[in-house]
Amino acid sequence: MAGIREANPDKEWLQVTGLIHDIGKLMAVWGEPQWCVVGDTLPVGCAPSKRIVFDAQYFAENPDMDDPTLNTRLGVYTENCGLENVLMSWGHDEYLYRVLNANTCHLPDEALYAIRFHSFYPWHTSEDYMFLCNNKDLEMLQWVREFNKFDLYTKCPDTPDIEQLKRYYGNLVEKYVPGKLKW
Ligand SMILES: [Fe+2]
Ligand SMILES: [Fe+2]
Repeated sequence: MAGIREANPDKEWLQVTGLIHDIGKLMAVWGEPQWCVVGDTLPVGCAPSKRIVFDAQYFAENPDMDDPTLNTRLGVYTENCGLENVLMSWGHDEYLYRVLNANTCHLPDEALYAIRFHSFYPWHTSEDYMFLCNNKDLEMLQWVREFNKFDLYTKCPDTPDIEQLKRYYGNLVEKYVPGKLKW
């Protein structure tokens, strides 16, 4: 995440997002099975995008797919209802998003979108499910993409000064997500 800081010295919220966005993976340490911690996420309650090919076999085994209220393009949703009204499949993204919502958090919406949707590849990379998006989602999409660029492609080659980093990021986290968190 050093790359984010270097490229965005003035965007503290983006740096904090880089630092904390994968903390939800702790669920795996706590014993949750891998399938509900990592992997692409997608809306539940409507038909899965036809382009999510790798899961086709598993979707076929999902009883929701035989339910006429859940297996259509819109399913339980309405056109452009907004992703805030969409129930996403469970994973480390959704978990941290909900933890932050349940605590005091001063991160802007851009950060919360990056945290909640960075594994929603069918949306930010394949542009599926656009019919569920409202204007705010479309505005935020660029930040999810911007964030993902750093998440995927920046690793720092230099040996960092750990104590200095601890101080710097400790202060940042305290500023945006203060106090002790409920998990
Ligand atoms: Fe992640
Ligand atoms: Fe990540």
